[in-house]
Amino acid sequence: MSERKSIHGEWSSQLAFFLAATGSAVGLGNIWQFPFIDGNNGGGAFVLIYLACIVLIGLPILIAEVTLGRRGRESPVNTLRGLALDEGRSRAWVGVGFISMVSGIIILSFYSVVAGWSLDYLLLSLRGAYAGASPDRVSRMFAGLTANPWRQMFWFTLFLAVSLWFSARGVRAGLERAARIMMPLLFALLLLLVVYALIVGDAGAAFSYLFSPDFSRLDGQAVLLAMGHSFFTLSLGIGAMMVYGAYTPNNVSIFRVSIWVAVADTGVALFAGMAIFSLVFAKGLAPAQGPGLIFTTLPVAFGAMPLGSLFGAAFFAVLVLAAWTSAVSMIEPTVAWLEERGWVRMRAVLAVGAVVWLLGMVLDFSFNIWSGVAWQGRTLFELFNFVSSDIMLPLGGFLIALFAGWMVSERSLRRELGVSRPLLRLWLLVLRYVTPVGVLLIFLNALGLIRGAL
Ligand code: TRP
Repeated sequence: MSERKSIHGEWSSQLAFFLAATGSAVGLGNIWQFPFIDGNNGGGAFVLIYLACIVLIGLPILIAEVTLGRRGRESPVNTLRGLALDEGRSRAWVGVGFISMVSGIIILSFYSVVAGWSLDYLLLSLRGAYAGASPDRVSRMFAGLTANPWRQMFWFTLFLAVSLWFSARGVRAGLERAARIMMPLLFALLLLLVVYALIVGDAGAAFSYLFSPDFSRLDGQAVLLAMGHSFFTLSLGIGAMMVYGAYTPNNVSIFRVSIWVAVADTGVALFAGMAIFSLVFAKGLAPAQGPGLIFTTLPVAFGAMPLGSLFGAAFFAVLVLAAWTSAVSMIEPTVAWLEERGWVRMRAVLAVGAVVWLLGMVLDFSFNIWSGVAWQGRTLFELFNFVSSDIMLPLGGFLIALFAGWMVSERSLRRELGVSRPLLRLWLLVLRYVTPVGVLLIFLNALGLIRGAL
């Protein structure tokens, strides 16, 4: 097989790839979801399971996605088509690419809505809207936001428009530039917030909450959540990392950078958790608030702290920055695919953006005009989240692991990865057996088929 070249361009360096991939990985999943999932599921015990899922399931698939992408050098659909052809496998593998494009679009629709809330809260913080506010008033503030379809629409549209703008500018001038500007800013602001929270907050309580294990709260459901989250947080299962891999220069060490991406991603989640819970505990607030933790509980804590509005603004800025560099990666598989079909990038971005926007409107309305619409006890918003994050991502990741582990020859993988044979073997062993079996067990458990065994 001759060397392929990406028609979309390449990252300018290993650092650029690291920043872009970390930008994709670090998002609302780290700062909004991880802390509340952890808080609801036994703190330290959950962290241990989560770390195991990252190492045994997430990291091997991350390496697989980037490797496949760089080998194929195209959008996930065409990369899978090309590799299946090279290796003499069924063309049906292309289907994985199509599933992934759909999940990316669904995820971005609810992601944009939550990122929109963060933008609204950024402004509220700057205005001092929750300074000294009671929990009751902050709850009403949040309810007021979601009850207002037009205010919600304004913010999520703004968020989406900026994401699309970066996306439209292409790999180097758009995706890479977004990561180069936003990621260092994000790290700096987060560090500042952690230091602030450690000074004014209750670091001891946060630490023992996050890290002291309570195994009695750990059940099959928690394991499922940990696994699902390890996919989501590393942006796996929808070909986002695959297409980022397609833009990676040949001299980049995929193994090394992937490990760093996983470390940075986990680090941000843990640091964000430390900052959030130090503040929440200092004010004696309840940690297990679910999705509302960030938008209803945390502002109460900030509102009661010295310089709380300012640091509150910094917190919501971190959330928005993290979300932007993730958003661009969710639609990249589809945008790249349309480009390969001859569309101009701008047109592809606008078309994908229009679909995301329409879905986002449905979700917007699911909080107000259509709040009565539910299916099996889930609102539309919860349903979108469940189907994409809990079903489509693990399914996509499972199939990608099977493809990379069993369909691609060891020789091709070794050529792409350039690592020593023992290391390659170790990775393949995990990817072939541990990863798919892990995903399968957790699925069966979720369906109630092996309840009690986990
Ligand atoms: N990883 C991001 C987060 O933690 C979300 C994300 C970005 C994502 N791209 C993705 C999730 C692709 C799944 C697939 O918030």
